Amino acid sequence: MDSKWNHFYKKPFQKRLDLIAEEAGLTPDQLDLIKQQFSQPSGQVIENYVTDFGLPQGVAVGVVVNGHSHLVPMVTEEPSVIAAASNGSRLLAAGGGIQAEVASQLTGGQIIIKNGAFSQLRAFVADHQAEMIEIANDSHPSILSYGGGAKRLSVRQLDSTFTSIDLMVDTGEAMGANMINTMLEALSNWLRNQMNAEITMAILTNYADEAVVHVSGKVPLAQLATQSMSGQVVGRRIVDASQVAQLDFRRAATHNKGIMNGVDAATIAFGNDWRAVESAVHSYAARTGAYKGLSTWQMSDKDLIGQMDLPVPIGFVGGANKVLPLVAINKQIAAIHNTQEEMALIAAVGLAQNLAALKALVTEGIQKGHMNLQLKSLALSNGAQDFELPQVINQLRQLKNPDSRAVKQILKTIRR
Ligand code: MEV
Repeated sequence: MDSKWNHFYKKPFQKRLDLIAEEAGLTPDQLDLIKQQFSQPSGQVIENYVTDFGLPQGVAVGVVVNGHSHLVPMVTEEPSVIAAASNGSRLLAAGGGIQAEVASQLTGGQIIIKNGAFSQLRAFVADHQAEMIEIANDSHPSILSYGGGAKRLSVRQLDSTFTSIDLMVDTGEAMGANMINTMLEALSNWLRNQMNAEITMAILTNYADEAVVHVSGKVPLAQLATQSMSGQVVGRRIVDASQVAQLDFRRAATHNKGIMNGVDAATIAFGNDWRAVESAVHSYAARTGAYKGLSTWQMSDKDLIGQMDLPVPIGFVGGANKVLPLVAINKQIAAIHNTQEEMALIAAVGLAQNLAALKALVTEGIQKGHMNLQLKSLALSNGAQDFELPQVINQLRQLKNPDSRAVKQILKTIRR
């Protein structure tokens, strides 16, 4: 690597920009854009900070959870996501809204031991459980004053070589990644002096089966009717779609992606580590050894009924909450006050998002339903101005293959 990049993180902002501009051949206009988006004079949030990358934020409306109607801020670049979330929520609101229950809220971590005899390790941890919990808590004592702390240790044999000691912690209102890692490292240091085994690593796990929200909701079948299909038929077809996501991992991946369209967008708006949520969700979807759809839909005489268990390992305080001012505003918009309300709302958006996607898929198909939004996005990304949109979209709709070339041609004609 060229030495000019050495200690890049120590260089002042302008010097970093000059180096990047020279390397990439950026124009003055491109540099101006980077400077306009710059928002962190101290540059302390991430290393080698250069600018902010803005994603659009919108708000889903009428998301009824446990009897309260919420606005949900959502950050996404996909044109149809927020419309779909609002649409799914409206259908579920007609059946009384989404019920959400946070079954437990514990975060886990593991210490991986190599070449320790499993049965001896298991007996050792059983004998020293209380002492080990105390060591973990002593390394992060402030959590006790919030009513949380280390709760439980168990031992799992991974194979004849490796064993995992699993620690479960109540991290209170924080997501708690740093807290757990501090506890695990304190325990590892203590274990090293207690036994003659190699510790391979100590780290939290993003598998979050003890931070699961159960969401459910129903839609009166009449609400599902379209111009060409009765509500009964649409409901039955959604049940079929749900079944396919249980049978086929290829479909399950897309079914779950639709759920994550909503979950990620809300998770980001509330300032959380969405990679942790993604990781938790997909590993949970594969917990039986087969990757399956996370939600299921069934029908009664009158209603379509949806259910989902979704791990949502997030926190209400700490992390990006402190450094991104929009996060606090978004929580105020959403009227959520603690981690459990936040978990419930995120999972509820996931269920609503899934319903809207399935309904579109089994009726008119996803393309037609999203066409207007897609045409709008196509027009904007090819230079159409806001006031030109209605005319451009209208003309694009008449075409068999609306594409960039068509937008440019239409713009040329109407601008003449
Ligand atoms: C697109 O972003 C999401 C969908 O593919 C989800 C699904 O197929 O269920 C529409």
